[in-house]
Amino acid sequence: MTSLKTLITEPWADFGLVDSGHGRKLERYGRFRFIRPEPQAMWAPASPDWKADGEFIGGSDEDGGGRWQLQPAVPEQWEMKRPTSNGDVNFWASNTPFRHLGFFPDMCAQWDWLSGHIRPGDRVMNMFGYTGVGSLVAARAGAQVTHVDASKKSVAAARENAALSGLGDAPVRWMIDDALKFLRREVRRGAKYHGLIFDPPKYGRGPEGEVWQLERDLPELVDLARQLLADDARFFVLTVYAIRMSALALHPLLDQALGGRGGLIDAGDMAIREEARGLLLPTAIFARWSAL
Ligand SMILES: C[S@@+](CC[C@H](N)C(=O)[O-])C[C@H]1O[C@@H](n2cnc3c(N)ncnc32)[C@H](O)[C@@H]1O
Repeated sequence: MTSLKTLITEPWADFGLVDSGHGRKLERYGRFRFIRPEPQAMWAPASPDWKADGEFIGGSDEDGGGRWQLQPAVPEQWEMKRPTSNGDVNFWASNTPFRHLGFFPDMCAQWDWLSGHIRPGDRVMNMFGYTGVGSLVAARAGAQVTHVDASKKSVAAARENAALSGLGDAPVRWMIDDALKFLRREVRRGAKYHGLIFDPPKYGRGPEGEVWQLERDLPELVDLARQLLADDARFFVLTVYAIRMSALALHPLLDQALGGRGGLIDAGDMAIREEARGLLLPTAIFARWSAL
């Protein structure tokens, strides 16, 4: 029997989901507050009156999918901090044209869990690593990190975040590559990892235009993960968002690939706790394996 669990990101000093409702959410990122569209917030908000430093106005794909309306006081980027059990990780937040702020706060629940599962010297891969906060959490825990993303710009941003965190000299390999190409190459080389963090988008492109399509490519991704985990591996974390898929569908995929190793497989929803009333806003689904 599969029992699902909910992984909750709680508010912290530099981030909180302040209120939500009527298809929008109010969040604080450092000293600024922003309003963004949130189709899942179908309920009424706690307060009818939101004060914010900016709002993302959603639009059709033809007009670029929407745009930010920002107060003049909002800088191009500002520093944020996420405490971990091994020390802080610092990174830049900004109002990106893709409606998010340059990092994904709901991943914190995974990052906290990882901090407790990494031992110094472990080899950990963060695939689809984006601006690198997950890689830096792993580096803080003493891991030798392989950070992979198809976007040169994202990898450059991740390296800036490493420098900001004082981790510029940490053992991190920064790779600009296509996910499947890189993983197949690592399998051919006989590379082995103690931990894997995979956060694939619904659709994406590698540096040479390679197409990533979640429903088509996820089974191969998980099979490559199986081959890359060392005999004494500790974890495999898979998260999926922005897609019509249940965590109930992820569990058997991981069970078939990794169930034979023993250990534990969890799957379920990821969510952010709203500060106003404590209600949970769902963001993504996950499945993860860990050695006992
Ligand atoms: C939204 S991000 C993942 C978020 C990240 N794990 C975090 O918590 O900050 C998805 C990333 O996948 C990358 N990507 C898309 N297609 C890819 C591919 N074929 N190979 C490697 N990376 C890809 C994108 O550049 C993007 O940075």
